[in-house]
Amino acid sequence: MNIAVLVSGRGTNLQAIIDAVESGYIKANISVVISSQKDALAIQRTREHGIEAIFIDPQDFWKDKEHKEEKRVEYDKKIIAELEKRNVDLVILAGYMLMLSPYFVEKYKNKIMNIHPALLPSFPGVNAQKQALDHGVKYTGATVHFVDSKMDHGPIIIQDIVPVYDDDTEETLSNRILEKEHKIYVEAVKLFVEGKLRVEGRRVKILK
Ligand code: GRF
Repeated sequence: MNIAVLVSGRGTNLQAIIDAVESGYIKANISVVISSQKDALAIQRTREHGIEAIFIDPQDFWKDKEHKEEKRVEYDKKIIAELEKRNVDLVILAGYMLMLSPYFVEKYKNKIMNIHPALLPSFPGVNAQKQALDHGVKYTGATVHFVDSKMDHGPIIIQDIVPVYDDDTEETLSNRILEKEHKIYVEAVKLFVEGKLRVEGRRVKILK
C-alpha cells in the first residue's frame, strides 16, 4: 500500500507516521510527502528519512482571484498527478492548511484522512484548542476522520479525549492533545492499511 502525506508546517503527525512505518508497525510505504509551504519543517523531516518531498506552490494558482475555484482544482490536479504517478492508495492530511477541492475529495473518496485537535463536531476550523478553552469545556480531544467536501466534517474514524485543566494555556492544552493525535493517527492509518475500516454513511465500522 502506498501512502502520500500532505503537509504545510512542522510535521509532528507526519513524524509519528514515519516512525510507525519505519518500525514496521504500519506495513505500508510512504511514497511521497507534498508540501504547500516551501520551508515547512515537515519537508526536512521527510528528507532526513530518505523519503521524497515535493513543494507545490499554491501561489502559482491563486494569483488569479477571479477564478479561485478553477484555480483550486488546477492546484489539486497537480497534486493528483503526483499521487497517480506513485499509485497512491491513501492520502493523509497532516497539518495541511488548504481546503481540498470537491474534485479531489470525490476522486479519493474515503481514501483521504485528516486529524483535528478537538472532538468533532465541536470546534472545527482553526484554533480548535483556543476555541475549547474559550468555551470552558472540561474535556476536549482529537479526531481522525475521512475527508469530505466540508471542512472538518467527514465520517469519524477514531477519537480520544483530553481533559482541560484550570491552569491550562493554549500551549499546554495543545501539547497534551498533540500526544493523543500522534497515537490515534497511527492507529487509524494502521487500520486502513489492514483493510479494517468500513464506511457506512457517516459511521465508520472497525472490523475485527
Ligand atoms: C495538528 O494539531 C493537527 O491536528 C492540525 O494541525 C496540526 C498539525 O501539526 N490539523 P503537525 O504539523 O502535525 O505537527
